Amino acid sequence: MKRTPKPEPAELIRINRYLSMCGVASRRKADEMVLEGKVEINHKVVRDLGTKIDPRRDKIYINGKQIVQVHDFVYLVMNKPRDTITTLSDERGRTTVMKLLHSKHRVYPIGRLDRNTTGVLLFTNDGEFANRLMHPKFEIQKSYLVTCETAVTFEHVDQLRKGMRIEDGKTAPAEVYVMPHSKGKEIGIIIHEGRNRQVRRMFEALGYVVKKLDRVAYGPVTKEGLARGATRSLTRPEVRKLRELTGMPEVQP
Ligand code: URA
Repeated sequence: MKRTPKPEPAELIRINRYLSMCGVASRRKADEMVLEGKVEINHKVVRDLGTKIDPRRDKIYINGKQIVQVHDFVYLVMNKPRDTITTLSDERGRTTVMKLLHSKHRVYPIGRLDRNTTGVLLFTNDGEFANRLMHPKFEIQKSYLVTCETAVTFEHVDQLRKGMRIEDGKTAPAEVYVMPHSKGKEIGIIIHEGRNRQVRRMFEALGYVVKKLDRVAYGPVTKEGLARGATRSLTRPEVRKLRELTGMPEVQP
């Protein structure tokens, strides 16, 4: 006779303990929040300080915003070096970003950088987070430093700024800066689209040879202090900001 598997027993914990574990507030402050009617469990306001919850099943909201605990999620940033490819494996034995990463977690790159583009590359095992960051509707800003072989003219800076035609359609307006003391050869550009090889294609369409392309920031995340090829975990404020930018519930890792 086949038996239906029993559901795992719930591990109930007091609401104030859960909120303090999530880093939302101290237990005393959490009690105050409950008494003030700020805490909802599964969309019902709770005012009983003795309320217990099952963190795996119940949905907790504070002031209408969902609180989630994501100790199983990993968020990393690598300062990608040149001559590495953004694929999980390569049959031709070229160095992949995964080889450099040495992570014990099954994480994946969020989007890709060309083989010879350096700089900020994010990794995670949080699929929804990755999908949202790459979705064009959230317009996450990516900042690049482009080094060209020759000086970029003011006219072309204007075109890059306003949006210009490349094979797959007009680019959205971008922020563009000529870097001081670079004789016009170094350009900072901030775009929020993520089309394939977009920055290189924009400069190439205007007739420039791109000598170097470095992604200096992805939303609030920079590679400051991170050696080429090195990786670090994102800080809590960085994760919080990226989740906020993509309309995800606040997270307390
Ligand atoms: N734009 C490019 O051209 N290359 C990259 O790697 C990223 C953005």
